[in-house]
Amino acid sequence: PSVAVIVVAAGSGTRLGRPEPKAFVPLGDGTLLSHAVRGVLGMREPVQLVVVVPAERVDQTRAELLASADASAELVVVVAGGELRQDSVAAGLAQLAPEIGVVLVHDAARALTPSLLFDEVAAAVRTRGHGVVPGLPVVDTVKRVADGRVVETVDRAELAAVQTPQGFPRGALERAYRLAGGEFTDDAALAAAAGVQVDVVPGDVRAFKITVPADLRRAEQLVAEAGA
Ligand code: C5P
Repeated sequence: PSVAVIVVAAGSGTRLGRPEPKAFVPLGDGTLLSHAVRGVLGMREPVQLVVVVPAERVDQTRAELLASADASAELVVVVAGGELRQDSVAAGLAQLAPEIGVVLVHDAARALTPSLLFDEVAAAVRTRGHGVVPGLPVVDTVKRVADGRVVETVDRAELAAVQTPQGFPRGALERAYRLAGGEFTDDAALAAAAGVQVDVVPGDVRAFKITVPADLRRAEQLVAEAGA
């Protein structure tokens, strides 16, 4: 394959109020992580799949992935993550096969992201040659606030709520990670800090991030509707 997808699933996800790490919370007939993996493996092209999980879950995750029919051993790598999301992504980057030219980074918490969105991001990275992130228009009116006071209203026409998978030419993302100082909440911010151009393509409402219990209920409902 020429594309790798790094699925980061090593966060604790305390806002979901569950004892297990968020990616391992049950959803439908699987877990958040198994749904995210299904989305990746439904892509049009074969990919290298790198799954990043808490250290104590590596062996179990590897066994479960290989037992599922759609994942073959040579294309699946499972490794332990780090303290910050970006440490987990870095751990995944270290596992890329030599032939990989395009890297997509995806949050397991965006469990119901359709395969088509992965295909579209990969295609856009290839044709444009720089970073690509899916984004949706912001529907709320957004204020900049300091000390509890509104400083200004930000023109929402200039804003996008960005999702994952976020795609990059491999070399650009690896260089950005080598240069990265500080904390970043997504790869687009880290890449932009290193001077990488990042474009926005249309996102998908189903790529929403499961963060709080209401998000999990919405996901359960979507899974139930899809199965019916
Ligand atoms: O915490 P947040 O929802 O922003 O995490 C986004 C994604 O990054 C989740 O899928 C989570 O499992 C992953 N993550 C990780 N390693 C960390 C923190 C978060 O893989 N140290």
